[in-house]
Order: sequence, then C-alpha cells, then structure tokens
Amino acid sequence: MTQPWWKQATIYQVYPKSFLDTDGDGIGDLPGITEKLDYLKKLGIEVIWLTPVYQSPQKDNGYDISDYYSIEPEYGSMKDLEQLFTEAHKRHLKIVMDMVVNHTSTAHHWFQESRKNRNNPFRDYYIWKDPKPDGGPPNNWQSKFGGSAWAWDETTGQYYLHLYDPTQADLNWENPQLRQTIYRMMNFWIDKGADGFRMDVINVISKNQRFPDDADAPPDARGKKFYTDGPRVHEFLQEMNRNVFSRRIEMMTVGEMSSTSINNCIRYTKPDRHELSMVFNFHHLKVDYPGGKKWTVARPDFLKLKQILSDWQTRMHAGGGWNALFWCNHDQPRIVSRFGDDGPYREVSAKMLATTLHMMQGTPYIYQGEEIGMTNPKYQSLSDYRDVESLNAYRMLKKKGLSETGILDILAHKSRDNGRSPMQWNNRKNAGFTSGTPWIPICPNYPEINVEAALANRQSIFYHYQKLVALRRKYPIIVEGAYELLLPNDPAIFAYLRHGEAEELLVVSNFFKAPVTFALPDSVPANRYDSHILISNYSDSPTDFRKIQLRPYESIVYHLTRKPSRSQLHQ
Ligand code: NOJ
Repeated sequence: MTQPWWKQATIYQVYPKSFLDTDGDGIGDLPGITEKLDYLKKLGIEVIWLTPVYQSPQKDNGYDISDYYSIEPEYGSMKDLEQLFTEAHKRHLKIVMDMVVNHTSTAHHWFQESRKNRNNPFRDYYIWKDPKPDGGPPNNWQSKFGGSAWAWDETTGQYYLHLYDPTQADLNWENPQLRQTIYRMMNFWIDKGADGFRMDVINVISKNQRFPDDADAPPDARGKKFYTDGPRVHEFLQEMNRNVFSRRIEMMTVGEMSSTSINNCIRYTKPDRHELSMVFNFHHLKVDYPGGKKWTVARPDFLKLKQILSDWQTRMHAGGGWNALFWCNHDQPRIVSRFGDDGPYREVSAKMLATTLHMMQGTPYIYQGEEIGMTNPKYQSLSDYRDVESLNAYRMLKKKGLSETGILDILAHKSRDNGRSPMQWNNRKNAGFTSGTPWIPICPNYPEINVEAALANRQSIFYHYQKLVALRRKYPIIVEGAYELLLPNDPAIFAYLRHGEAEELLVVSNFFKAPVTFALPDSVPANRYDSHILISNYSDSPTDFRKIQLRPYESIVYHLTRKPSRSQLHQ
C-alpha cells in the first residue's frame, strides 16, 4: 500500500525564540533557522514545524497573534521568511507553519474593532456575553492559565471569552464570515510556500452555544466538557479541509488536541473524513500529574505510561487514525530530565526514550535540543522565568501558602520554560546562541552538552536520532506494523512487538537505572525467527533476545524475520 509521505517522515520542531540569534538582540530569529538548515538536513528530518512567527505582543510567545499577515519584527522580516522557505525547499525540507485560530491577541485589529461597540461589524468575530444578574462572569468556566475564562470589558458592558490569557480572546467559529476570513489567510500562507499547518488547540474552537455553568468538574477543569472536541468541531475541520488543505494533495496537517479522546482523534485523522493528517494528544505526558494536578512534583506512573501509549497505538491503528509521536515540545519539560536520568545516565536514557517512541506507529517529532539530550535548566530563581503560565502558577501556589523553595522546585520540574532555554550550539559564550543577552537564561551545562560536541562524537545522542530517522524510512514495518504491548505489568520494562507479514520488530527498553531481566513471553515463538539488532544504546547488546539482562536504561530493537519453512527450503 502506498502511504502518504508524512507517514515515513520525521519532523523537527523549531522554537525560533530559542533557536539561534543572528543579530545580537538575545532573541532567536529567522536567519538563525536558515543558517542551521544543513544541520537539520544532517539529522535526516524532512519537515520543520515552525512555532508562530507572526506579529504578536509576545504575551504568550507568539500564540497571541496581532496580525496573521506579517512577521514579528524580533524574528525578522517577510523577506527573511521567504528566504527560509527558499533555502529549505532547495534542500527538500518542508515547512509547517503554526496556525493559531482558536484565539487572537486582543491587540489584533479585529478585536480592537470588536470591542468598540456592540454593532461593530467585527463584534461577532469574538464571543461576547452579558454578565450574570450579580454582575459576575456569564459562567464558571476556567482559563487554562488560571482564573475565570471571561474578562470584563467596560466600554460595551460585556464579558469576552478567553480560554487562555486575557490577552488571547477566543474567536467565534459560529460566524461563517470569520471562518472564511481564516481560510483566506491560511491560503495566503500556502501561496507563500507553507507545506502544512500545525493547528494550535484546534479541538476547542467549537463551544457549546448554551455556555452552561459547569457544576460538577473540579475547579481547574470547569467548562472543559463544553468546548473540548465541541459540537461542530468536525464540521469546521472538514470545511477548513475543503477550503484550504485539499488545495495541495501533499499537504500535511497536525492538530494539537487538548484533553481529547481516542475516538475523536480517529475521526480527526481517518483519511476518508478529510479533516487532518495526524494529531498530538497529551495523555501520556500527564502520568506525572497525580490526580490531574500539574503543579506538583511527582514520579511518573510508569505502568500508566505504557498503558496510555499502547492504547493509542492499538486503537488508532484499528480505527484507521494516525498519531503524532512526541516526548517534547515548547510546552513540556525536557524528557531526559522527566522520564530518564539527566545525571550519569543521560546519554543512554535519552537514547532509550528516543528508541521507545520512534519505533511506534505514527509520525515522530523531535523538539530542538532533544537530539543532543538537552536537560531542564533547573532555574533557581523566579526571575529566570518568563512564561505567563508559570508566573500565574507561582502566584496561585503562593496564595495556597506553599513555601518559596517548594514553588521553585515545582517550577523547576513543571514549567514550560524548561523546554524553552536556548539551544546549546557550542561551548563558547552563551552556548553560541547569541552574542547579546539571551532573553531567557542558558542552561549551565552547555560546556558539556552542545551540538558541536555531539557532532564530534559518533556515539552521541545526535547520531542515535539520525539512525532512528533513517530506520523509519528504510523499514516499512515501523510505519505499518500492528503494535502489541508485552509484559504490561512489568514495573521496569517497556517491551512491544510490531507485527509485519513475515517479520516482527521486538523493542525492549529498561526505563530505570536498576538492571533487570527480560524474558520473552512464551506466546512469541522465538525459534521460528532469525534476528538481528537494528539499534541499541549499548555497543555490545546481546543478540539472543529470548532472555536479556538489561543494563541501566538499556534499549534494544531486534528485527525478527521468519525462518524459511522446511518445504520452502526444499523448493
Ligand atoms: C498551545 C501552545 O503550544 C501553547 O504554547 C499556547 O500557550 C497555547 N496553545 C495557547 O495558544
């Protein structure tokens, strides 16, 4: 079966602010990305996902867009973006733009118009509601960044909805004119050369139009059930697909899905439904949120991690959907610090995590710095943080009476800024990121962990990722094979099979420091196979896969090919 190209591809996420600064203002920029295209090419990725570079007050680092048609000056100019497109395409690299259409910045001229008076032609671009009789917000929905999801606007005496920061006003997707305006704008970017879109929080665009109070949800989640995978979301995505995505057959789209369900994700991605190519879901990254609470320090629940990832593997496969595979992005702490070991076992554990994920079914994403095993920066002071969500969390935890050190410890584990410390290019000043003052502090371990060092060492994490990317292209079983979790209750080993027609992949990873023995379940007829190791994070991993003494964080992939049967041998 021929598969769409993006099923074999690996995608690299660039967070421009923290990638490479070429003009010395301490902020990464578009020319910085262009300068590093050959580096990305060397890694073997085929697509770059660029987080938002549109004009924005940067209250939420670009996810608050004030003009969809122009480039934020701190990142460069439209010319710089065109140059990036040209240079990327020259190297057969594709660019996926981040599209934020659930909300705009309140600085966007649509909102500025909308708030002028109730009859303004743009009024209906946003969601305005009367106060409750007591003057309070129209309902008890909560913003994802804390506090009420409604902000009062004095001029017109109504509240507007903001599921994120008060400066990020939700657009009214019920308005057909707004929808057409959005599609036109997206087409503008296709005409510029964009090869696809990453759709920000796209599953929350359709709200229950009764806007009811949420009586029974825990305080932080109030309202979620009335807009998550909301009533018209599939209809809107199909319309977007007709108006935008289907203009180019080879286009790739990925939806970022907040608190979604597998059934909805099958609908979002099943090809005959004509919605999206693939989806990000976050359930596997909440295994260290005990009781759903993010702002606390907790060890990941390993059994739950296996179960969630495996459920998504098997059910998306069975339903004909497609997963985006990822450990890291700009909203997440670094995976090696989170589920691995960022001390003595950093290299092996980073490789183990990479292997475990990249051998699954879906399209893998590598977030800048992940390929060299960058760690959380372990910021020591509140003044190191920049992220609006983290600063709100600080205030909220303070109000709850937590100690300063306790809060800083939580932020050092959970803040989104953990993933936003600048790229570590070399061991020189500011890790080679900028000649000026970086907008956010560099992680102090850059003299040891940096791209230059990684490229100079054939055993580095970088080359491990490079190999994983290449394997996906070479072995169709990685793209197509059905998934089967082995040893679901083993407290240390993550093992699974991928089933092909006359072959299997056996992936065995020790997620912990303590050595542990893997015994192949009897259900797998080991002696029917020839085997060889496709990739491993130790140079001398054992070739016999029936019983393996796994060392700290050891991870091995065996390619098992069925031995010819006797009758075949005699032919
Ligand atoms: C998801 C983005 O990844 C995140 O950075 C942003 O804050 C929210 N969406 C709101 O746009």
